Amino acid sequence: MHLHRYEKIWLTFGIGSLLVFLIVLGVGAFYQGTQPPSCLVTLDPENVQAHESFKDENLGVQQIGENEYVVNILASAFNYNFGKDEAGVPVRKIRIPKGANVIFQATTTDVVHGFQIAGTNVNMMLEPGYISDYETTLNNVGEFTIVCNEYCGVGHHMMTAVLEVYEP
Ligand code: CUA
Repeated sequence: MHLHRYEKIWLTFGIGSLLVFLIVLGVGAFYQGTQPPSCLVTLDPENVQAHESFKDENLGVQQIGENEYVVNILASAFNYNFGKDEAGVPVRKIRIPKGANVIFQATTTDVVHGFQIAGTNVNMMLEPGYISDYETTLNNVGEFTIVCNEYCGVGHHMMTAVLEVYEP
């Protein structure tokens, strides 16, 4: 079979590009752990507390194993609900030990909100009716600002909280 020289160049270029894309995709998925957005679990946005994770007593930081934590967050305009402390005061600052495995699980009771922890790679969009989750390990000690990065109304710029990562 005779292939024209230009045809050979195009074929080489085409197959080469395909390989490059597959390698980039493979490295991203299997080596760097890039995953598609979560949001696969649904719940009733009108009654989020019917879901075990978002009952009052389960909000905020929950230790689920030796060095494993789950943080359940209910977002609403213009607040992140992490539950209440022993004195009944709403928690404004969550604390996680350095190096622990943490799963952030969040949803919203009204409109779309964001949940980004500045300075980390935690960044989720929270949509009514869906649970967004993100599993990570926080290796830098310090205080991090949690911000809403989806415009949600007049109080959007005030929708913040604090995460403290402490030396265990
Ligand atoms: Cu919530 Cu912006």
